[in-house]
Amino acid sequence: MERTLSIIKPDAVKKNVIGEIISRFEKNGLRIATMKKIRMTKEEAKGFYIVHKDRPFYDSLTDFMSEGPIVVMVLEGESAIAKNREIMGATNPANAAPGTIRKDFAENMERNAVHGSDAPETAAFEIGYFFSALEIL
Ligand code: CMP
Repeated sequence: MERTLSIIKPDAVKKNVIGEIISRFEKNGLRIATMKKIRMTKEEAKGFYIVHKDRPFYDSLTDFMSEGPIVVMVLEGESAIAKNREIMGATNPANAAPGTIRKDFAENMERNAVHGSDAPETAAFEIGYFFSALEIL
């Protein structure tokens, strides 16, 4: 059993497809251990994406991630990290496989509908960024 952090980003929340995205996780055998809708400040978005602080897209990415509400959730299941990344599709929707969330809902490389942790260490940091142990069921 593994846990990973998933974010439905402001572009997808605006499109009113929260339910459609969540149902793809459930249909693929992932369970929602906890979930909430929040809006990050610019500073909170910068803290979340601190690993990208030296990238040219850091400022624009953190503006985007704080422009409106997001849904953050912990997904749980066997190989949850890899499975979630498979369901999401490639970061750039132009390269995302048919049937993936990003193929169907992402606009471009930045406004790409969802985020998912890429490794166990990042999952631990990212889950702890939004949730305390008591909030994860
Ligand atoms: P995510 O999976 O949330 O991880 C980092 C995010 O940075 C990524 O999705 C995209 O939203 C964004 N990103 C990655 N590469 C680029 C890029 N080259 N230009 C703009 N945004 C990017």
